Amino acid sequence: MLTNKRILLIISGGIAAYKSLDLIRRLRERGAQVTPVLTRSAEEFVTPLSVSSLAGSQVYRDLFDLTDEADMGHIQLSRSADLIVVAPATADLMAKMAHGMANDLASTLLLATDTPVLVAPAMNVRMWDHPATQRNLAQLKGDGISFVGPNEGDMACGEFGPGRMAEPMEIVEAVQRATSAGPLVGRRILVTSGPTHEPIDPVRYIANRSSGAQGSAIADALVKLGADVVFVTGPADAARPEGVELIEVETAQEMLTAVQENLAVDAAIFCAAVADWRVASASDRKIKKTKGGLPVLEFAENPDILATVSQMPTGRPPLVVGFAAETDDVIENATAKRIRKGCDWIVANDVSPATGIMGGSENAVTLISNEGSEAWPRMGKTEVAEKLAARLADALGA
Ligand code: C5P
Repeated sequence: MLTNKRILLIISGGIAAYKSLDLIRRLRERGAQVTPVLTRSAEEFVTPLSVSSLAGSQVYRDLFDLTDEADMGHIQLSRSADLIVVAPATADLMAKMAHGMANDLASTLLLATDTPVLVAPAMNVRMWDHPATQRNLAQLKGDGISFVGPNEGDMACGEFGPGRMAEPMEIVEAVQRATSAGPLVGRRILVTSGPTHEPIDPVRYIANRSSGAQGSAIADALVKLGADVVFVTGPADAARPEGVELIEVETAQEMLTAVQENLAVDAAIFCAAVADWRVASASDRKIKKTKGGLPVLEFAENPDILATVSQMPTGRPPLVVGFAAETDDVIENATAKRIRKGCDWIVANDVSPATGIMGGSENAVTLISNEGSEAWPRMGKTEVAEKLAARLADALGA
């Protein structure tokens, strides 16, 4: 529920603005008070009258509208909200936000506020993919702004790809997360999960065993505490967590790239079972069985994502957590691994077959930091995830 939550909803000009009418209705059904702000171009898509009727509130449109200023100054308008939602956010408005421009009511409100901001972008796929928009997106994420969507699909302009505004209910769920009192609200955390697949040829690959269950559970637990989660996963069986920014990759090299593009985070948790080697020159045709003998595969070493990020000279996330699945001398090996990789914490577990942990629903872990090691009793992977998320919130001073 969103009972008495005050939402300042900025609607900028895009065809997706019609969905914002439904968004207003759904926010109000859940008890939120919605104060709408329309940009000039938004008025080309929805009328102030329909917006104000659905919101049950005056619509704010103009920075220099003296009646509004007498009623409530723009500074107060932005600060009296619990959350500012920008839906749809055009490429233009994102650019203004990223550069701190304030030349109309919407951009001025966004610059004048210290209230959390949630942005639902909507634009043509080429505009979304354009390096300028992607730069602005990275800047805004680094500034602590949360995003929901865009989704991939058919677009009103007839093209296909990322750029569709998130559906109203997805935005409502993001609003619920952003306004809940969770200790990780406003924190951005990256999680890697699942195995990686390293192709031998188009039909064969090498991989580590990993269901992705622990990674998904960790992402779920972080989302529950209010974090914005970037979830980078290889081809895992486990259900994808809800409410995350999902990035699906195949190989270790793709995973490293996805991680490096999303490092403006408060913490990074490397849960993925990344293949240590790839086939040096994967064949782009299926390797045939021949009578002449067996194929010989030459391997190349994959990048160690955890070590690379842990040892970044600049831009390293403040808290980096690795996992260590060991079959012998778990604590000694994991303690040495923490130092070797340069991460802050290692979550170590014994995956020798007798434990039944690999692919099972339980885990028994030891948390290793520079303060020593702490063994946690055997518990469900969900509980391990919740305990780890709570520890993270403590460590981030949330
Ligand atoms: O060295 P080992 O594979 O045991 O280390 C496990 C930890 O390192 C995990 O956190 C895993 O996600 C991470 N890792 C990585 N990139 C690799 C190998 C492991 O991020 N290439």
